[in-house]
Amino acid sequence: MQVYMTPELPDDVTEGLATAVRALRATRLDALFAHDARRVEQLTFAGAGLVADLSKERITPGALAEVLAHAERQGLREWMHALFAGEKVNQTEGRPALHTALRRRDPAPLAVAGTDVMPLVRATRERMRALAAAVAAGERRGATGEPLRSVVAIGIGGSDLGPRLVCDALRDPRTPVVTPVTFVSNVDPAALARALAEADPATTLFVVVSKTFTTEETLANATTARAWLRETLAVSDVSAHFVAVTAAVDRATAFGVDAGSVLPMWDWVGGRYSLWSAVGLPIMLMHGADAFAQLLDGAAALDEHFAREPLATNLPVVLGALAWWNRVALGHGQRVVVPYAHALSLLPLYLQQLSLESNGKRVRRDGTPVAGPTEPSLWGSPGTDGQHAYFQWLHQGTDVVPVEFVVPLASTSPLGDQHAMLVANAFAQAQALMTGRGGTPEAACPGDRPSTTVLLPRVDAWHVGALLALWEQRTFVEAVLYGINPFDQYGVELGKTLARPLLAALRAGSDAPGTDALDPSTAALLVRARAAR
Ligand code: F6P
Repeated sequence: MQVYMTPELPDDVTEGLATAVRALRATRLDALFAHDARRVEQLTFAGAGLVADLSKERITPGALAEVLAHAERQGLREWMHALFAGEKVNQTEGRPALHTALRRRDPAPLAVAGTDVMPLVRATRERMRALAAAVAAGERRGATGEPLRSVVAIGIGGSDLGPRLVCDALRDPRTPVVTPVTFVSNVDPAALARALAEADPATTLFVVVSKTFTTEETLANATTARAWLRETLAVSDVSAHFVAVTAAVDRATAFGVDAGSVLPMWDWVGGRYSLWSAVGLPIMLMHGADAFAQLLDGAAALDEHFAREPLATNLPVVLGALAWWNRVALGHGQRVVVPYAHALSLLPLYLQQLSLESNGKRVRRDGTPVAGPTEPSLWGSPGTDGQHAYFQWLHQGTDVVPVEFVVPLASTSPLGDQHAMLVANAFAQAQALMTGRGGTPEAACPGDRPSTTVLLPRVDAWHVGALLALWEQRTFVEAVLYGINPFDQYGVELGKTLARPLLAALRAGSDAPGTDALDPSTAALLVRARAAR
């Protein structure tokens, strides 16, 4: 039997749910299969071309139904309706979270504060299309009159991870990209320096993506890029080389971006949910408008499934319910996501921001503490590489961590038969985690370790759109179950504030303002860093 952290259940769970939790904490996975011949069928769910097999998880159809009933009591249906209708589901910031409007196919109006946002969404997409087409046709020219042929996208967090993931996922070695895009996010100057080393200043377009246009990393990189252009091209007006995507148009124009080259974002779209907006411009530039349209279509199909499918067979709902179950009922403080697709290598990184910035919270919507634990940590890397790193720990370590295998069933690569090896390895790892094996103490694997397998037909724009929207919606379902607001992120602000006086101290010396009250550890680190400068 595995060792479980068994947290206290929240007070508001029913006796039926509490009984299911107690029973399943003490039940092995193989026993669940032995007692239910229809287990695989009953715990396999499909939607928007994706299939999820939950049968290797420590849950039964009955326990899942209890969690779904609990979710209904937490108001899941009402919250889903509020999300799609543009109500202020982000109540701390007094805003809707209307990322679904960005991929919505329904032509009906959708009002935010009395204004129909759909014409704004469509007009912005048209401007993105025109801009990407102009670059592709060599019609957008830089300060020296040469066509701009390649792009450096500058942004961080939600203004970087989604487009970076999709741009990478859709690369097909057989088809040249429309316009090459390099991403720069880190404030470490090494990141921008590497991108600039490969770039021709006369033909490089910088796309600066920042919802607030105040993010220090992004502004520092954009400012350095602007100085590099001025110096290398020996001209002072380099505005032709800049496009901005932001909700703060005035700040972007003050930076020196022409008003006609600023694409809008809106405060009713959260940064980590924004890749479907003009934040996705790098995707259109690199892979074309059709690929971007397919991405939106896949996400829209998932949204329609989420909005209409009964809760019991609703893919994001059951996956969100399972996540809550694994965390709150079984006490798993981590989860691992392993995409068996080189094209989805960046998925774990993207999901870290989506799930941890959304649900890494400890108070409920009304400000009172959450009774139990919330979001587990999330990490992972592509298979099969991960098998040669941390899978030893997954199979024989002392912690039990649910794994999610993401497996495309067909390859988009023309080479050989290696894709069959990839799929076989994914299935074998899930099997090994569950069944284990006997042997000497050193060789034995305990098994009984849970996993979910998510299948997609292939990594194409449509299914990537569906997969990412699935994760957005299941993150929302989890938030409803925890009772928290997934759309703010106050926790990331403290570190940013504390960095300012430390930066001043590094640059100016020991008498810099605000550092005299430093804790001894940080003060000592600062002394070492100053000495090394
Ligand atoms: O990490 C904090 C955060 O505010 C994210 O939520 C956001 O995606 C990122 O910074 C970038 O913000 P901006 O788009 O305003 O530059």
